[in-house]
Amino acid sequence: MFLDPPEKVSQTQITLDVREIEPLLQGPSMAIKPWPGATITLKDGRIMYIREAKLEEAPMMMDYMKKVMESDHDFYDIVGARVYSEILGWYRKRLKDPYTLVGLIDGQWAGFANGRLFNEDINISLHSMALIRGGRIGAIMYYTKAYYAFEILGNEEWWATYESYNGWHRWGLGMAQPSYPWPEYQHELGGAKVYYVTKKYWDSTVKNYVRQMVGSDLVFNVPPDIVKRNEIMRVPEEVLV
Ligand SMILES: CC(C)(COP(=O)(O)OP(=O)(O)OC[C@H]1O[C@@H](n2cnc3c(N)ncnc32)[C@H](O)[C@@H]1OP(=O)(O)O)[C@@H](O)C(=O)NCCC(=O)NCCS
Repeated sequence: MFLDPPEKVSQTQITLDVREIEPLLQGPSMAIKPWPGATITLKDGRIMYIREAKLEEAPMMMDYMKKVMESDHDFYDIVGARVYSEILGWYRKRLKDPYTLVGLIDGQWAGFANGRLFNEDINISLHSMALIRGGRIGAIMYYTKAYYAFEILGNEEWWATYESYNGWHRWGLGMAQPSYPWPEYQHELGGAKVYYVTKKYWDSTVKNYVRQMVGSDLVFNVPPDIVKRNEIMRVPEEVLV
């Protein structure tokens, strides 16, 4: 857009360094506490280690997600496509205060969960995925990010929504989550209903979810050999869902 200046100017052109634009596009981050890493024992005895994904792992994760999103069952396509864009948003710094957790079994990528902070109080759940079926890995990943929100980040509310029947069944129904009036409240994932958990409801009820669902809890005292075994993440050779 152009308008003539209402005054004589000594320079009619101003050149910008893109590094001056970047702070306007990114916004300052809230410096959130990191996820410390935890293990959980699956029903079949395997140990899954849940840690933060490393930024340099993002390209490999996106390549794998491209393959996962070709699966046209159980909503892996839409969730895969959205997860791809969220990993890219994190990688290119176009998501506000994101966190990205991966569940690894002996280094192999088995589960995914991510979200972002709207502010100090509200944690927006984005997506959870089981990349290996049958072990309730997705249920664990979602619980883990909610645990992170309430127990480590000190958030007051958890805002989620559901694209798939399995997701709604696991957490909307499985955690008996109420929802806010719709369409007054809309989740950023397509304007769907906002299902929520408050800190009070987490403390009174939801905190027990993973013990009931999997029969074990998150363990934060992680032996160094488990950390080492999962230091380098491998994606499965093929899509396993
Ligand atoms: C939603 C999701 C994360 C739940 O993962 P999960 O808790 O590990 O559970 P699964 O969906 O793999 O399995 C659900 C049930 O169906 C069974 N099942 C479904 N497909 C299966 C398969 N291919 N092989 C083995 N079991 C299967 C599981 O054993 C399980 O039974 P259970 O309730 O007795 O444990 C997972 O279904 C997923 O990643 N879906 C696509 C992405 C998605 O929808 N994410 C959530 C967005 S709202």
